[in-house]
Amino acid sequence: MNNFTYYVPVRIHFGKGEISKLHDEITSIGKNVLLVYGGGSIKRIGVYDQVIEQLKDCNVFELGGVDPNPRLKSVEDGALICKENHIDVVLAVGGGSSIDCAKAICAAAYYDGNPWDFIVDSSLIKKALPLVSVLTLSATGSEMDNTAVITNPQTKDKRGFGSRHLFPKVSILDPTYTYSVSKYQTASGVADIMSHTFETYFNDTKDAYLSNEIAISILKTCIKYGKVVYDEPDNYEARANLMWASSLAINGLISCGCGKSWSCHPMEHVLSAYYDVTHGAGLAMLTPKWMTYILDDSTVDKFAEYGIEVWGIDASLPPMEIAKTAIANTEAFFHSLDLPSTFEEIGIPDTSTLEEMAQMAVDSKGGTIKGYRKLEFQDVVNIYHMCQGK
Ligand code: NZQ
Ligand code: ZN
Repeated sequence: MNNFTYYVPVRIHFGKGEISKLHDEITSIGKNVLLVYGGGSIKRIGVYDQVIEQLKDCNVFELGGVDPNPRLKSVEDGALICKENHIDVVLAVGGGSSIDCAKAICAAAYYDGNPWDFIVDSSLIKKALPLVSVLTLSATGSEMDNTAVITNPQTKDKRGFGSRHLFPKVSILDPTYTYSVSKYQTASGVADIMSHTFETYFNDTKDAYLSNEIAISILKTCIKYGKVVYDEPDNYEARANLMWASSLAINGLISCGCGKSWSCHPMEHVLSAYYDVTHGAGLAMLTPKWMTYILDDSTVDKFAEYGIEVWGIDASLPPMEIAKTAIANTEAFFHSLDLPSTFEEIGIPDTSTLEEMAQMAVDSKGGTIKGYRKLEFQDVVNIYHMCQGK
């Protein structure tokens, strides 16, 4: 088990009605609040009104219209509001896009140059405004990590960045807020949570047993409740377990003692930057292809473990057979949630950009994706080609 430092300074209020804690949490920080949200779902489902009620003795400024795959422009707009109005605290209400945009705004409020500078080089972030989040979609884990992902449409560049200054101070997780999430976004969220878990679970450390078992439990939770929630959107037990899985998959817990080795995310972020695809759907398409591509004698035991522990495949079968069945089960599970498995299904009609995108993907990681197995430019091209279907 490797040495590690674990520090997650986020207070979580979890459960139905926990929005009642928002007033005291916000006013203990300050009265000037920037409320950041997306395209209006929080108004349709009534969360906006509940938030405004909690903030009735605050000065509330608003930045709505944050896009899925949030853009640099929203960050600049939000930073300007903060600078002009002495904002004390930023409150994000929504999914990962609103929370990520709010994180970048918190940093940009104390940065004089173009925010893209610190998105590319996060060591430039020396200070940030405090952030509070109210989550409405279980997927990214942004509610409990210190990472954000922002797109620069001009350069078709989508970048993740992190800083110790960007953890939310408080996150409110009410599973009932996710009842209204569409089937497609719900399924994409499940795929995203599973991908965060895969990105850590597939590593070469042999003795981080506890972290490994927690990862297995998160994967089983997604499989158990993913289908339930797809068929019964207002099943509280399923929504609640998925919401907590979202946070635990990426808050560093499962990488304690074993590190991280992300592979599919750099390949997906380029697809989102070029074609604005839904992040989790892109991961659902790529993940089984990536698994198949890297399956060999050096990885077969880990994939067999995955098959036995997560899918309950008969351990007496040959490891390669177990591994292939596990990958097939993964793809079939995503298929059962109507998630795409090809470029055509995800809505990418033109595949003439595959090589350009592969170059962007490896460039974003310094020339090589150093995941569970190293991926060079040609490997990424090959994996993208596998997504072209037959
Ligand atoms: O725009 P609004 O009105 O918010 O509607 C959203 C959006 O259309 C809607 N939605 C959210 N909650 C809803 C709802 N609709 C009905 N009822 C609700 N309760 O769902 C759509 C997608 O929302 P979005 O916030 O974009 O989704 P998600 O949470 O999946 O966030 C995706 C973004 O997060 C990044 C992704 O790359 C992508 O840009 N990621 C952030 C990470 C992080 N911070 O650690 C890690 C992830 O790997 C990921 O890269
Ligand atoms: Zn993700």
